[in-house]
Amino acid sequence: MEHPNPNMLKPETASEPLLTLSGVHTHIGQYHILQGVDLVVPRGGLSILLGRNGAGKTTTLRTIMGLWKASAGSIHFDGRDITKLATPDIARAGIAYVPESMAVFSDLTVRENLYLAARNGPLDRARVDWICGFFPALKKFWNYPAGNLSGGQKQMVAIARAIVEPRKLLLVDEPTKGLAPAIIQSLIAAFRELKATDTTILLVEQNFNFVRSLGDTVSVMDDGRVVHAGAMAALADDGALQQRLLGLSLDSHQ
Ligand SMILES: Nc1ncnc2c1ncn2[C@@H]1O[C@H](COP(=O)(O)OP(=O)(O)OP(=O)(O)O)[C@@H](O)[C@H]1O
Ligand SMILES: [Mg+2]
Repeated sequence: MEHPNPNMLKPETASEPLLTLSGVHTHIGQYHILQGVDLVVPRGGLSILLGRNGAGKTTTLRTIMGLWKASAGSIHFDGRDITKLATPDIARAGIAYVPESMAVFSDLTVRENLYLAARNGPLDRARVDWICGFFPALKKFWNYPAGNLSGGQKQMVAIARAIVEPRKLLLVDEPTKGLAPAIIQSLIAAFRELKATDTTILLVEQNFNFVRSLGDTVSVMDDGRVVHAGAMAALADDGALQQRLLGLSLDSHQ
């Protein structure tokens, strides 16, 4: 079938996962970090990636973005093989990435930070208002240098940058790290808002209480592999499974 009719393919592609990693290996220098990661992110909703420190969660996100090159295996996104694409092309394909380190330009204002993140032209006013609805601090500090903001507010700027234009997939690495409970509550509200749009989210998070009510599906990593994948509700209801899969990581984050 050389030229398939796209309409004929529609029902099939609609149920296809948005992102699939198959047997992905990643080497960093001489170290063999990812050792055959199989990860599926369904279209729509919010998928959680859990795992103890050093399990390979950040390396997985960086490999999806092409910041590390997979040494074996494949990564398919939205019906395309993106394994060998350069990072800017992966971003253009519709994936946004919020790294662990709250990537904002400290010397630039909040407005300028968002302006630079908009690839397709001027800022979409209505969308910015929508984002400021769940991150009101952005409006308050709109014309202040982002470097003056608190950690939680910088995290909001970083997430706002990633969603300032619609993206198909949002990768977010540990957004709650070091944040006060009140800020974590506003992040939960923001992710709920995003879930209601057609953005698919893959969230790396070790704070199980943060993700148990947010996640639709969950994958758990250990030693460079995915060792469990399923519905979040099933893991949230199964104390023994949590203990077995997450006992270590929960303890290490108290
Ligand atoms: N630049 C690097 N050079 C060498 N080893 C690295 C590098 N980055 C990560 N690693 C190693 O790869 C493994 C996985 O790291 P990664 O950052 O992906 O873990 P993580 O699951 O995100 O952990 P955390 O919860 O602490 O953020 C660790 O053993 C780490 O030491
Ligand atoms: Mg990490």
